[in-house]
Amino acid sequence: MGYQDIYQSWQNDPEGFWMAQAEAIDWVEKPTKALSSENAPLYEWFADAKVNTCWNAVDRHVEAGRGDQTAIIYDSPVTHTKREISYFELRNRVASLAGALRAKGVEKGDRVIIYMPMIPEALEAMLACARIGAIHSVVFGGFAANELAVRIDDATPKAIIAASCGIEPGRVVHYKPLLDGAIDLAKHKPEFCVILQREQEVAHLEEGRDYNWHGFQYGVEPAECVPVEGNHPAYILYTSGTTGQPKGVMRPTAGHLVALNWTMKNIYNVQPGEVFWAASDVGWVVGHSYICYGPLITGNTTIVFEGKPIGTPDAGTFWRIIDEHKVKSFFTAPTAFRAVRREDPTGEFIKKYDLSGLRAVYLAGERADPATIEWAQEKLNVPVIDHWWQTETGWAIAANPLGIEQLPVKLGSPSVAMPGYDVQILDEAGHPVGPNTLGAIAIKLPLPPGTLPNLWNAEERFKKSYLNTFPGYYETGDAGMKDEDGYLYIMARTDDVINVAGHRLSTGGMEEVLASHPDVAECAVIGVADELKGQLPLGFLCLNSGSGREHADVVKECVKLVRDKIGPVAAFKLAVVVDRLPKTRSGKILRGTMVKIADGEEFKMPATIDDPAILDEIRVALKTLGYPAA
Ligand code: COA
Ligand code: AMP
Repeated sequence: MGYQDIYQSWQNDPEGFWMAQAEAIDWVEKPTKALSSENAPLYEWFADAKVNTCWNAVDRHVEAGRGDQTAIIYDSPVTHTKREISYFELRNRVASLAGALRAKGVEKGDRVIIYMPMIPEALEAMLACARIGAIHSVVFGGFAANELAVRIDDATPKAIIAASCGIEPGRVVHYKPLLDGAIDLAKHKPEFCVILQREQEVAHLEEGRDYNWHGFQYGVEPAECVPVEGNHPAYILYTSGTTGQPKGVMRPTAGHLVALNWTMKNIYNVQPGEVFWAASDVGWVVGHSYICYGPLITGNTTIVFEGKPIGTPDAGTFWRIIDEHKVKSFFTAPTAFRAVRREDPTGEFIKKYDLSGLRAVYLAGERADPATIEWAQEKLNVPVIDHWWQTETGWAIAANPLGIEQLPVKLGSPSVAMPGYDVQILDEAGHPVGPNTLGAIAIKLPLPPGTLPNLWNAEERFKKSYLNTFPGYYETGDAGMKDEDGYLYIMARTDDVINVAGHRLSTGGMEEVLASHPDVAECAVIGVADELKGQLPLGFLCLNSGSGREHADVVKECVKLVRDKIGPVAAFKLAVVVDRLPKTRSGKILRGTMVKIADGEEFKMPATIDDPAILDEIRVALKTLGYPAA
């Protein structure tokens, strides 16, 4: 069957379609029905089933006789380490860690925060939680202590599992002091912490609160897999919204298993036993779905890569790993390819390696610019597939499903809607618009299995953020269009979210931090176009009258403040002091207009602007920072 037939078969019988896909999962108790709509517009999938994620990702492969197969390849150019872990070893390691957590009182439904770099133990910690029904929440290492504290207070974890340090090129990231700082800042205190001491930096352990990863497992009874309900949350993953308070996206257990398993074969075109590599980080949704769960559920070998596309040691690292570990499907962010291309435009490094085993490359996380796709297609000689999704959905909304059939690639489009997603382009009144017309991208409810059923402890915010604007639809927060063949084009966000090097960040969150500076009276942060990272945040600061401070000093302090409060990942390095901000007569800051000026784009003078002269002041200020770039 081709894509059209499969999409049609889903449309004809959505529940039947997903019940059939559910056959691929090992259930303790099979679901008697697919969809629960009693609380519409809140929906659940496979709610009455009993199942365990860790069993499906690990144990069942051992039981099926594939225990000797490599489950995880750890390749860390930053520590010069390579290691392989078989499914058998993974089962034992995870059962032991889960047993130790249980012995310290972690039970089904308890939250556990995981704060770890790209090491196999991060996946083991996730799987150990899944094994006993604990709900993990992984926090990305590039966030500052304050962001970790916000997540601790929202998730109220019983335990935190962390590593002593992470390694960024040229510097050690001191995870443990960041963790200690976060616990000090947070109102909620975890009962205990488990610390993996890395040899690159051994951390101080707090007597009575912190346990050593290894010692803590000594003599414990390994834990068996605990069956949980199909709608039990597998994890919470925080993502940026319009404010500094991140949204706790919940992932339901059964739908997650069914959907990810479907994607591995149908989108990523890999069979059990083959090597799948997503070069992302466990702190992001890509890492959850495609470094940890997806490949393991299907019985693939996954790669945990601790390094960067360039500089660890060079722009050939991706190709070395694909060659050395026989990667069949490779997933990364367009930014990573832009970085590689900038260092090696003619692909000299590519020529050094045997990439004949590679079947396809997948890009997501931000808009894939056609030039980058064309470069990769030409140099790698395999299909380069753009696909579009979000933390909220956990898997692709739109893709080119190579495992079903390869549809023609249209540059600039992540191709077509996947089964489960009825994607519509809506006008402001919520009416579907015709082909090639810009609008808000929305998905007709219910969303498919594996997508978020709610936000953690924030149902009203869930409804307000996603459901209220267009009744009957999920609002993606992206704007774009659909052509006559159903290909989608994702053009921009409709909210204050920007995308920096494939990282989703909130300009509203940065504004909150800048506004806390004692000399800042008012501020605005916008995302300006950047050749490498896609977008970069840029701040405008209005100082308190009579502040009398040197502008350069305030800018420097503000840059440091964002780094200290949000973290280095915010990449906030550009700011300028202005007298006033352009606003509408009702006082709304015209951020969109400022973005257009910074990017050197044409724009229509907003009819509601209070004082057009301010735009000239903005133009002058931007010039001092080199915007618009030539
Ligand atoms: N822990 C601590 N700090 C981190 C971090 C982590 N896990 N990840 C990034 N940072 C830091 C970086 O060291 C950098 O700090 P600096 O300001 O001291 O230089 C800062 O956060 C910004 O990082 P980044 O935006 O990633 O830029 P970079 O200059 O370090 O690297 C690229 C540029 C293109 C190589 C890099 O962005 C990259 O690999 N991008 C791929 C993105 C990706 O995989 N996204 C996942 C979504 S699919
Ligand atoms: P995140 O939740 O971090 O995965 O970010 C999701 C957002 O990234 C989406 O809402 C889009 O704005 C953007 N995005 C992700 N993938 C793509 C893509 N293939 N093309 C365009 N934008 C994308």
